[in-house]
Amino acid sequence: MAGETMNLHQNSQGMEPASHVKNAAEIPVAPPPADEAARQEPLAIISDIHANMEALQVVMGEIKKRDIRRIYCLGDVIGYGPNPLECLDTVIEACDFTIMGNHDFAIFYEPFNFNTAAENAAYWTRNQFEADTDRPRRNRRWRYLGRMQTRIVHKRFLAVHGSPRRPINEYIFPDDIYSATQKLANIFDGLKHLCFVGHTHVPGVFVPQPDFYSPEDLGGEYRITEEKAIINVGSVGQPRDHDPRASFAILHPDRVEFVRVAYDVNKTVEKVRSIDALDNFLGQRLLEGT
Ligand SMILES: [Fe+2]
Repeated sequence: MAGETMNLHQNSQGMEPASHVKNAAEIPVAPPPADEAARQEPLAIISDIHANMEALQVVMGEIKKRDIRRIYCLGDVIGYGPNPLECLDTVIEACDFTIMGNHDFAIFYEPFNFNTAAENAAYWTRNQFEADTDRPRRNRRWRYLGRMQTRIVHKRFLAVHGSPRRPINEYIFPDDIYSATQKLANIFDGLKHLCFVGHTHVPGVFVPQPDFYSPEDLGGEYRITEEKAIINVGSVGQPRDHDPRASFAILHPDRVEFVRVAYDVNKTVEKVRSIDALDNFLGQRLLEGT
């Protein structure tokens, strides 16, 4: 896919998005902690916020309540939802890292293989970025998007948006354990141990047999062993596992905890309805978690 090989520091507009390079030091991007003590700290992993500020706020509140200081974001901060600027600003301030998702890519570069509703939402989102008259704030957002990496190689795990071999765009669906066993075998062959993903908006754990376990199957947590595992943390802002609550995960030294938190879905749905460029379906699906 073109997006994974192209220069991630230039977009088709060639304006603010490209200018981040000379001011890159302004953006807070922390490296993985080098010392063992920090590595033992719980780490919150969030993904697929999709410009849903109500969901992001409750997730950030839950993370703070648990006194977790480190947050990694697996991408798709924006796209689909009504609050892209607020969500990106929050992520810039709160997260150690953000990986580039296909919707972040679509807004910084061009939509790739999107349906009409997603494409319209991407162009509307880009217009929101451009319409902010606060130039430093606008440039900061474009620079942050332009600096998103496609993968993070941490001592304990790999983190990508989609899959280890095609990090921006490849989906790993629960049904793949029946219908795409060779695909899963190939992906696991290239994996050392643990990989965190988002992208499908369906939380759970894939193991090499192949098999898939939902958080309910696991009693809410996955015990880390020597076995390879691909762990989907679910979606903060647009869950698709028939549970409308925001989803994220916490990595502890010995386990991964799956967390769900309820938020004011109706408020987000109303915001989507009030914006003509956003298809009402994008709000309606939040009510069902689909
Ligand atoms: Fe997504």
